[in-house]
Amino acid sequence: MPHHPVVESVRSGDISIITLSNPPVNTLGRPARRALLVELERAENDEAVSAVVIAGRNNFSAGADLAEFDSGEGLAEPTLHLTLTGYLDTMTKPTVAAIDGVALGGGLELALACSARVAHPRAKLGLPETTLGFMPGAGGTQRLPRAVGIEAALDLIVTGRSISSAEAETLGLLEAVDPDPVGAATQLARRLVSAAKPRLRDRAIAEPLAEAFVDSAKRFAARNPKASAGVKAALEALRSAVTKPFDEALADELEFFVRLAGEPEARAARYRFLSDRAAVRLRPVENVPDVTTAAVIGAGTMGRGIALALLSASIEVTLIDTDADRVNAGIAAMTADLDRAVARMRLTEGDRDAQLKILSSGVGLEKAASADLVIEAVFENLDVKRDVFRALSDVVRPDTILASNTSSLDLNLIAQTAAHPERVVGMHFFSPANIMRLVEVVDGGDTSPATLAAAVKVAKRLRKLPVVAQVGPGFIGNRIFDQYIRQAQLLLREGVSPQQIDSALERWGMAMGPFRVLDLVGNDISWMARKAAGGAGEDVAWQIADALGENGWFGRKSGSGWYRYGDDGSAGPNPDLTELLASFTGPQISDDEIVRRCILALVIEASHVLADRVAATSADIDTVMVNGYGFPARRGGPWFFAELTGWELVQLLVKRWRERTGDSFWSTADLPLTEKNAS
Ligand code: COA
Repeated sequence: MPHHPVVESVRSGDISIITLSNPPVNTLGRPARRALLVELERAENDEAVSAVVIAGRNNFSAGADLAEFDSGEGLAEPTLHLTLTGYLDTMTKPTVAAIDGVALGGGLELALACSARVAHPRAKLGLPETTLGFMPGAGGTQRLPRAVGIEAALDLIVTGRSISSAEAETLGLLEAVDPDPVGAATQLARRLVSAAKPRLRDRAIAEPLAEAFVDSAKRFAARNPKASAGVKAALEALRSAVTKPFDEALADELEFFVRLAGEPEARAARYRFLSDRAAVRLRPVENVPDVTTAAVIGAGTMGRGIALALLSASIEVTLIDTDADRVNAGIAAMTADLDRAVARMRLTEGDRDAQLKILSSGVGLEKAASADLVIEAVFENLDVKRDVFRALSDVVRPDTILASNTSSLDLNLIAQTAAHPERVVGMHFFSPANIMRLVEVVDGGDTSPATLAAAVKVAKRLRKLPVVAQVGPGFIGNRIFDQYIRQAQLLLREGVSPQQIDSALERWGMAMGPFRVLDLVGNDISWMARKAAGGAGEDVAWQIADALGENGWFGRKSGSGWYRYGDDGSAGPNPDLTELLASFTGPQISDDEIVRRCILALVIEASHVLADRVAATSADIDTVMVNGYGFPARRGGPWFFAELTGWELVQLLVKRWRERTGDSFWSTADLPLTEKNAS
């Protein structure tokens, strides 16, 4: 009989079976925690009940509700979860966790506070908090080492990895693995009724060298620049576990947890988790076509990467180009890529063979005739792409979805040439397309909701992160990133070296500095694009970059660019460039200012992208910049960064730079930036 929508309880003889029912993953938000506590108290006080099984519908529990933390609710009552686990400790009746699906974070902590644990063979268990910038806060650092020993607990808490039931049973985390966990837990609970109630809190941490293990892990973390604040704090809590009585150590854990959970790094991690998932959520659409066969037009780097991504999702692929040599070179490169994956044990031989079996190729667009989806990845030129879409329309079925991989061209001009523009959509993959997760799914003026949903669905099937963008120059990512590159160019004119700019931004967290990115992408690409647009030289910002193009300093591929490259690929300063830059001088500019200018340039352009409605939300923009442009995930994204910095300070800096440089770029769009900070 359900007593509460999120928790149901039924009786099996004298055993009360309490089931969390908070889909999809049974997070332990406040209502679930409260309801569970009420049910536990009811069972404890009911004379007809002699033991309790705690289960979850489909999943045991994915732990704390990550959305609740930042709604002001989570941290306002950090002890309620402890109340729950504390109450389990005080119960006179035995409790057994019946784990199916996941028991993660607070979910596993709940199970650890029970008298015993049983799991389905497919269950996954873990404490992933340190991967989310914080640490366990409901006894995980105290009870886990008591269950599995300090060495295994250190491993699980520091890496945040989740383990199978089999591994968990071997470690001593589970009493049993059973395909019917509720049935097995019920039997175990019945057996425990007459025994003394086991509690992990009463168990000693067995290793004689426990303290030495923790201290050595702490020393390692202290030396490792990549060790997160979450890992360091969790190690402190583990140290308390091995040196202090249970309750004192538990109080330490709570203190560290509360301090950490409110820090920017943990907030950014939660924001990233939720934003990545929000980006792919679309309003439900009916009759979304299924895609089982695809054709990729263009056997260049991008086309091959896209084809590999499709194959990995078991979608049949035909790789098409205009001549046999290009096609063969494409297939050879793809085969080599799959072989490399096998050699590195990222793919089994069987999977490689299965993928090659569903790969075919050919010359001419007619080869695309039977595809459900055609993805065009030809040279980035409007006329060429329009020709392809016009010709494709004569070949494909009327219901085929036609996707363009254009990164900046006007999708509507391309779609115009197709017989069914409502079936045309943009799918802007990032290179290498089989590795990079981001896909900008471009919603053209005529794109139907079903076509858009189909493109999003395919991208998800490829395990990518699709973010919907409206048509506009450069869509979301390239448009915003261009302004960041432009600031880097302007800094050169003020006498800052490419090395200083790159290293300042890399130290701050960007995966690669702007000049290293440009050399990798190729300086010819943007130079030619500027020439084609007739704008080269008009904006002084690009004059130095244009000179690189004219000199043939295209970057890595030509051996010199913003850097000079040795035969072994090593990068050093390019002396010719240093000479070229010698005439640009100015007062010294600090790393801090470099970072602020470049990062706030992202924010400024993001505000225009929002005002123009090219992106639906600021979270989508952050998702694009983190997953496609090397913006550090631990900083959330440019918009999140601006919010943390505070819009008042952002506006002050923007005004200062506008006055100093006379550059009208320095002005945010007229947006209610946040409710709190709109001024
Ligand atoms: N808090 C809030 N929402 C959560 C959540 C959590 N801890 N865990 C999952 N969700 C939500 C997701 O946002 C998603 O919502 P949506 O359907 O509205 O988009 C939904 O649950 C499903 O999650 P998703 O990750 O898309 O599904 P999956 O099947 O690929 O993975 C999990 C399921 C549980 C493995 C994965 O979500 C996960 O690792 N969650 C985090 C667990 C965690 O770190 N807990 C520790 C917190 S103390």
